[in-house]
Amino acid sequence: MPSDTTDEQLSLVASRLRSAASVVVLTGAGVSAESGLRTFRGATSADLPPDMRTLWAEFDPAKLATPEAFQADPAMVTKWYDWRRLGCLAAEPNPGHLALAAMEHALRRRGVDFTLLTQNVDRLHQRAGSSNVVELHGSIIQWRCTETGTTLTPPPEPMQRFPPPSPFAPGALLRPDVVWFGETLPELAIATAVDALQRCDLFMSIGTSAVVHPAAGFIEIAAAVGAFLAEINAEATPVSRRVDVSVRGSSANILPKIVQASQP
Ligand code: OAD
Repeated sequence: MPSDTTDEQLSLVASRLRSAASVVVLTGAGVSAESGLRTFRGATSADLPPDMRTLWAEFDPAKLATPEAFQADPAMVTKWYDWRRLGCLAAEPNPGHLALAAMEHALRRRGVDFTLLTQNVDRLHQRAGSSNVVELHGSIIQWRCTETGTTLTPPPEPMQRFPPPSPFAPGALLRPDVVWFGETLPELAIATAVDALQRCDLFMSIGTSAVVHPAAGFIEIAAAVGAFLAEINAEATPVSRRVDVSVRGSSANILPKIVQASQP
């Protein structure tokens, strides 16, 4: 991982946090990497164990993360998501998640607006104590009926049948309550995100490869209202040149430092 983070960069982000009136943070899979959850793409270190390879380097998203894939092979798709669900349940929030929760509570105590937009489906932000979390891509912890849309939280053990039958309608199945490629994001999540972005004065993109839309385009909404733009990521992304400050490194390492430095 590059180590070109400077103290100046950290103090710049910290000082913007101190003066902000409305903060939006967008997170992606990189934030959960230190919790042992594999990212989909992006930098991996050669010394990581083979099972830490990025997911899309090992699996084909077209065969696992689309409505067509579910239709073609619901058993395989639900088995894969159940495997990931169990991984998320076994994972613990890392210092990056905890720092974002601390950041939210410190800002709110000062009357500053804070919205955490996450593409992650693992619920680790909520488990770390973040409260204003918008799940843009849904949640893998929750599943829903293919007929009625009713949601439930399956128990924390492996499912027994693949595809799992839905208890809500005869012949219906349960599917993870996530957003697949080709599906639209929940309307409320998008509306809440756009509303927060349109009034933020500090936007931070953290641990996301910034290639999956619409979340990848959120930065432009923040830029249009003149927000200060910051990025924290293990490697350069398409938004690195767009932001006012791009901090390279692990969010689990950098976020606690920024939160510490932003304290009055
Ligand atoms: P990605 O896996 O695409 O990107 C993760 C980013 O985090 C990469 O740029 C990595 O370099 C970076 N990274 C890795 N470890 C890090 C660390 N410890 N600290 C900071 N950065 C780190 O994840 P997302 O951008 O979240 O959608 O992916 C967006 C969507 O694409 C996901 O929600 C998922 C995926 O396909 C679906 O499954 C539909």
